[in-house]
Amino acid sequence: MLDCVVTDAKIVNHTGIFEGEIGIRDGRITQVAKGISETTDRKVSARGKMVLPGLVDGHTHMEFPFMGTVTADDFESGTVASACGGVTTIIDFSIQPKGSSLLETYELWRKKADPKVCVDYSLHMVIREANQANLNQIRQIIRKGVQSVKLFMTYRRDGLLMSDINIYRIMKEVAKYGGVVGLHCENNDYIECLVSEFLAAEKTEPYYHAKSRPPEAEVEAVRRATTLAGFANANMYVVHMSTRGAMESVVEARNRGLDVYAETCPHYLTFTENMYRGLAAKNYVMSPPLRRREDKEALWLGLASGQIRTVASDHCCFTSEQKDLGKEDFSRIPNGVPGTEVILPILYHGVSRGLISLERLVQLTSYNPARQFGLFPRKGTIQVGSDADIVVLDPKKRQRLSKDNLHSRMDNSIYERITVTGFPVLTLSRGRVVHEDGQFVGKRGGGSYVPGRPHSVRPKDL
Ligand code: URP
Ligand code: ZN
Ligand code: ZN
Repeated sequence: MLDCVVTDAKIVNHTGIFEGEIGIRDGRITQVAKGISETTDRKVSARGKMVLPGLVDGHTHMEFPFMGTVTADDFESGTVASACGGVTTIIDFSIQPKGSSLLETYELWRKKADPKVCVDYSLHMVIREANQANLNQIRQIIRKGVQSVKLFMTYRRDGLLMSDINIYRIMKEVAKYGGVVGLHCENNDYIECLVSEFLAAEKTEPYYHAKSRPPEAEVEAVRRATTLAGFANANMYVVHMSTRGAMESVVEARNRGLDVYAETCPHYLTFTENMYRGLAAKNYVMSPPLRRREDKEALWLGLASGQIRTVASDHCCFTSEQKDLGKEDFSRIPNGVPGTEVILPILYHGVSRGLISLERLVQLTSYNPARQFGLFPRKGTIQVGSDADIVVLDPKKRQRLSKDNLHSRMDNSIYERITVTGFPVLTLSRGRVVHEDGQFVGKRGGGSYVPGRPHSVRPKDL
């Protein structure tokens, strides 16, 4: 007896499309076939819809202390938004409180997330300091499933900036145990210099946030980081990449034989720097900032050609009130925007416009992030043995991406004026329905921690 059968399913995997049925028992997919004869407790019809692997959002910041405040979404509200957007796994950034060890940080994040998460989750670790104690614990956190470390090449004032030598040392240590190093690539010195110049000239508005973090600051940092990855023989991943130049540098590094991949985010695929001229400019402040139209177009081409490996949200919400911390000084506006709920609709919009194929959408949003972070084949595919993490998308459903239709705790939506055609209508997390037609129907704490497997212990063909 099965727990559930999804019928009339147009199943989209990374390799192609198959019309059939999906059988589910005990949270796992037990059959994918033209027709399933076994009896079942529940049938879910997907007639006229598309059935995709649940998304793996590889970049979120829930309950994240940053720039003098804490993100508005906690692990409950944030993962409710994820579930309603078809995301069935998030990978969240744990960050060391000053003086805490990596293992203590891992424990702290498990304690915060476990009772609240509404979908499954895994963890990255932000390392603030390359001291010996932290280096010594890298092996242990990788053993616990935190196989990816994030380092910042900016945010000196917030105690996050990592020097080149320390990036190199951490890369070497992470590489020893088969982990990956994610880099926030922006040249800190150049940015600090521009910020002081603008502030000295009393140019304090959010518009100068983008002006003080120009594309070349990102490109230079990507080049430097890939050079260090080459020295250290490390796997490297550029998080939230926003420019054509950065993408070209990643491709160039890969052509040199390096293991360097990159992600971009829905906001860079949707908006341009023009948003910093509007009344709600502060709500679009993130780093790197929104870019020129030519960058946005290049990123879409990079998705289509496979030059960009993944799309993740960088869900890092601050309400309008929190953004007002930088009312008098753009450099004090907490950086970050929401996004976990819109990855699928924004990318499906790209499918409708002929920019990417459906299979590419699945690669970018579930298959590739699951492989990148050691969660495949449990996550990232609809196949026998995988977790029954499934999203049903109605290609005809029109939805405005307004605050009232989204589920985060945010008091506004940066996507407010955008209406898409094609929206998730049902999400299954390990076989349980957690979202149905815009309503969250799962439960707080229903998700679980899923450890990532380091590269060294993955099957060879991955
Ligand atoms: O502006 C951003 N991206 N905020 C989140 C923190 C980070 O750098 O990922
Ligand atoms: Zn970052
Ligand atoms: Zn981030």
